[in-house]
Amino acid sequence: STVYLNGQFIPEEEAKVSVFDRGFLFGDSVYEVVPYYQGVGFRLQEHIDRLAHSLRAVSIKNAQDWQAIMDKLVALNGGGNLSVYLQVTRGSAGKRSHAYGDELEPTIFACCTDIKDVWQAGVDEVVPLKAIVTEDLRWHRCDIKSTCLLPNILVLQQAKDEGVQEALFSRDGKLTEGSACNLFLVKRGVIYTPKRSSEILGGITRELILELADQHGIQYQEIDIDYERLLAADEVWVSSSTRGVIPIVEIDGQQIGEGNKGPVWMRMFTLFSGFQRA
Ligand code: PDD
Repeated sequence: STVYLNGQFIPEEEAKVSVFDRGFLFGDSVYEVVPYYQGVGFRLQEHIDRLAHSLRAVSIKNAQDWQAIMDKLVALNGGGNLSVYLQVTRGSAGKRSHAYGDELEPTIFACCTDIKDVWQAGVDEVVPLKAIVTEDLRWHRCDIKSTCLLPNILVLQQAKDEGVQEALFSRDGKLTEGSACNLFLVKRGVIYTPKRSSEILGGITRELILELADQHGIQYQEIDIDYERLLAADEVWVSSSTRGVIPIVEIDGQQIGEGNKGPVWMRMFTLFSGFQRA
């Protein structure tokens, strides 16, 4: 496929980055994952704003027309339903040194992959997940979408090794989010989710869920969620740009609610479909 690297749209085989790039050496970089449906970016401005937040937080300069880059990349790859991966590293100083000193020229890379239109899928196409709860060993700036993802990939692999599909992080007895998704639960018709803080990524899909709940009179609260509250929920969901909103029906071997897609999830899923068409 065609990828974007530092100002050029080129075949992926031709895209080369220095071994001294700080993204490679230190994970000194941030990223975004932006869904495009029928060639159009979904909640694009929100993603661009979050990228700006990440860049500002780590002092990497932000001087690009991100929409132009992503729109063109998607068009060159045939439009359609694609997710764009966009990564910005601090760049390379031609040697390894922890301190970055003078401002470097950021390395900018973007590529896309096919995705399903998660909001247009039928309810029956959504496969509920099982999850484990693991210790949140990440740093305290999870609001920055950094490519330092070792804790995330290790817990996801642990989940897979234990025969389930997702891992939920718990810090100081409170659930934060999933390995690459935000966390929701439903109890007696009310939606609960951890409040936005530097302990979680401010998910674009999370924001949309709360917006739709507001618009349609579904009650929600942003609260601390401990393990007992999680397991006692009627429904548990996770959300992300690439996967939409998916029910979790078993956690640490214990069934959640009826052990199936719940009615509030069903309602939210329907609202999403309506939103996408609107
Ligand atoms: N991840 N929390 C974490 C830790 C994430 O990595 C993600 C997204 C989310 C959900 O955010 P959003 O709704 O904006 O996609 C929450 C992307 C999809 C990824 O790493 O591939």
